[in-house]
Amino acid sequence: MIALGCDHGGYDLMQEVIAYLEKNGFEYKNYGCYNTEATDYPIYGKKVAKAILSGECDKGILICGTGIGISITANKFKGIRAALCENCFSAEATRLHNDANILAMGGRVVGPGLAVKIVDTFLNTPFSGDERHINRIRAIEED
Ligand code: RB5
Repeated sequence: MIALGCDHGGYDLMQEVIAYLEKNGFEYKNYGCYNTEATDYPIYGKKVAKAILSGECDKGILICGTGIGISITANKFKGIRAALCENCFSAEATRLHNDANILAMGGRVVGPGLAVKIVDTFLNTPFSGDERHINRIRAIEED
Protein backbone atom coordinates (compact mmCIF):
# COMPACT_ATOMS: atom_id res chain seq x y z
CA MET A 1 0.00 0.00 0.00
CA ILE A 2 1.40 3.37 -1.03
CA ALA A 3 0.71 6.49 1.05
CA LEU A 4 0.26 9.70 -0.93
CA GLY A 5 0.60 13.25 0.33
CA CYS A 6 0.96 16.63 -1.31
CA ASP A 7 0.34 20.31 -0.72
CA HIS A 8 -1.17 22.77 -3.23
CA GLY A 9 2.21 23.04 -4.99
CA GLY A 10 2.20 19.30 -5.64
CA TYR A 11 -1.49 18.73 -6.26
CA ASP A 12 -1.45 18.78 -10.07
CA LEU A 13 1.54 16.47 -10.33
CA MET A 14 -0.02 14.12 -7.79
CA GLN A 15 -3.00 13.68 -10.13
CA GLU A 16 -0.57 12.39 -12.78
CA VAL A 17 0.99 10.05 -10.22
CA ILE A 18 -2.44 8.76 -9.20
CA ALA A 19 -3.33 8.09 -12.86
CA TYR A 20 -0.08 6.09 -13.20
CA LEU A 21 -0.77 4.09 -10.00
CA GLU A 22 -4.31 3.24 -11.09
CA LYS A 23 -3.24 2.26 -14.59
CA ASN A 24 -0.56 -0.03 -13.19
CA GLY A 25 -2.63 -1.63 -10.43
CA PHE A 26 -0.85 -0.14 -7.40
CA GLU A 27 -2.99 0.25 -4.27
CA TYR A 28 -2.74 3.61 -2.54
CA LYS A 29 -4.19 5.71 0.28
CA ASN A 30 -4.47 9.42 -0.37
CA TYR A 31 -3.79 11.54 2.71
CA GLY A 32 -4.45 14.83 0.86
CA CYS A 33 -4.51 17.58 0.01
CA TYR A 34 -7.44 17.29 -2.34
CA ASN A 35 -7.37 20.57 -4.27
CA THR A 36 -5.09 23.50 -5.13
CA GLU A 37 -6.16 25.72 -2.22
CA ALA A 38 -3.12 26.94 -0.28
CA THR A 39 -2.24 24.64 2.60
CA ASP A 40 0.81 23.59 4.67
CA TYR A 41 3.14 20.82 3.50
CA PRO A 42 4.07 19.62 7.05
CA ILE A 43 0.52 18.29 7.52
CA TYR A 44 0.94 15.80 4.68
CA GLY A 45 4.59 14.96 5.30
CA LYS A 46 3.64 13.92 8.83
CA LYS A 47 0.54 11.94 7.80
CA VAL A 48 2.46 9.90 5.25
CA ALA A 49 5.42 9.30 7.59
CA LYS A 50 3.04 8.07 10.30
CA ALA A 51 1.15 5.83 7.85
CA ILE A 52 4.42 4.08 7.04
CA LEU A 53 5.65 3.83 10.63
CA SER A 54 2.30 2.36 11.75
CA GLY A 55 2.57 -0.32 9.06
CA GLU A 56 -0.59 0.87 7.32
CA CYS A 57 1.48 1.60 4.21
CA ASP A 58 4.88 0.35 3.14
CA LYS A 59 5.98 3.18 0.83
CA GLY A 60 5.03 6.79 0.30
CA ILE A 61 5.07 9.49 -2.34
CA LEU A 62 5.20 13.12 -1.24
CA ILE A 63 4.99 16.18 -3.49
CA CYS A 64 5.17 19.87 -2.65
CA GLY A 65 6.33 22.76 -4.82
CA THR A 66 10.00 21.87 -4.54
CA GLY A 67 9.77 18.54 -2.68
CA ILE A 68 12.08 20.05 -0.09
CA GLY A 69 9.76 21.12 2.74
CA ILE A 70 7.73 17.94 2.62
CA SER A 71 10.82 15.67 2.59
CA ILE A 72 12.44 17.61 5.46
CA THR A 73 9.24 17.05 7.44
CA ALA A 74 9.06 13.32 6.74
CA ASN A 75 12.74 12.79 7.50
CA LYS A 76 12.25 14.06 11.07
CA PHE A 77 10.66 10.69 11.86
CA LYS A 78 12.97 7.86 12.92
CA GLY A 79 12.71 5.06 10.39
CA ILE A 80 11.67 7.31 7.54
CA ARG A 81 14.05 7.67 4.61
CA ALA A 82 12.51 10.19 2.24
CA ALA A 83 14.50 10.76 -0.95
CA LEU A 84 13.99 13.89 -2.99
CA CYS A 85 14.50 12.79 -6.59
CA GLU A 86 14.61 14.77 -9.80
CA ASN A 87 15.90 11.98 -12.04
CA CYS A 88 15.61 8.21 -12.50
CA PHE A 89 19.24 7.51 -11.54
CA SER A 90 18.63 8.92 -8.05
CA ALA A 91 15.30 7.08 -7.73
CA GLU A 92 16.99 3.77 -8.56
CA ALA A 93 20.05 4.41 -6.39
CA THR A 94 18.04 5.44 -3.36
CA ARG A 95 16.08 2.19 -3.46
CA LEU A 96 19.19 0.05 -4.05
CA HIS A 97 21.42 1.81 -1.51
CA ASN A 98 19.22 3.63 1.03
CA ASP A 99 16.09 1.43 0.96
CA ALA A 100 14.22 4.75 0.82
CA ASN A 101 10.62 4.33 1.91
CA ILE A 102 9.37 7.67 0.60
CA LEU A 103 9.87 9.29 -2.78
CA ALA A 104 9.62 13.09 -2.70
CA MET A 105 9.33 15.27 -5.78
CA GLY A 106 8.80 18.91 -6.62
CA GLY A 107 5.63 19.68 -8.52
CA ARG A 108 7.23 22.90 -9.75
CA VAL A 109 10.49 21.16 -10.62
CA VAL A 110 9.81 18.00 -12.63
CA GLY A 111 7.37 17.65 -15.51
CA PRO A 112 4.69 14.96 -15.50
CA GLY A 113 6.42 12.63 -17.99
CA LEU A 114 9.65 12.51 -16.02
CA ALA A 115 7.83 12.33 -12.69
CA VAL A 116 5.94 9.21 -13.75
CA LYS A 117 9.21 7.56 -14.88
CA ILE A 118 10.76 8.45 -11.51
CA VAL A 119 7.79 6.90 -9.69
CA ASP A 120 7.97 3.79 -11.88
CA THR A 121 11.69 3.41 -11.17
CA PHE A 122 11.25 3.96 -7.44
CA LEU A 123 8.39 1.48 -7.06
CA ASN A 124 9.97 -1.22 -9.19
CA THR A 125 13.50 -1.18 -7.78
CA PRO A 126 14.11 -3.47 -4.78
CA PHE A 127 16.62 -2.77 -2.01
CA SER A 128 19.94 -4.43 -2.84
CA GLY A 129 20.17 -6.02 0.61
CA ASP A 130 23.96 -5.58 0.54
CA GLU A 131 25.57 -5.73 3.97
CA ARG A 132 27.40 -2.43 3.53
CA HIS A 133 24.14 -0.68 2.76
CA ILE A 134 22.34 -2.37 5.67
CA ASN A 135 25.12 -1.17 8.00
CA ARG A 136 24.96 2.39 6.69
CA ILE A 137 21.18 2.52 7.01
CA ARG A 138 21.50 1.25 10.58
CA ALA A 139 24.08 3.97 11.26
CA ILE A 140 21.59 6.67 10.19
CA GLU A 141 19.47 5.82 13.21
CA GLU A 142 22.36 5.93 15.70
CA ASP A 143 23.06 9.14 17.66
C1 RB5 B 1 4.39 26.40 -1.16
O1 RB5 B 1 4.31 27.62 -1.81
C2 RB5 B 1 5.83 25.88 -1.16
O2 RB5 B 1 6.58 26.62 -0.27
C3 RB5 B 1 5.87 24.41 -0.83
O3 RB5 B 1 5.10 23.72 -1.74
C4 RB5 B 1 7.23 23.77 -0.87
O4 RB5 B 1 7.91 24.06 -2.05
C5 RB5 B 1 8.07 23.93 0.32
O5 RB5 B 1 9.17 23.39 0.45
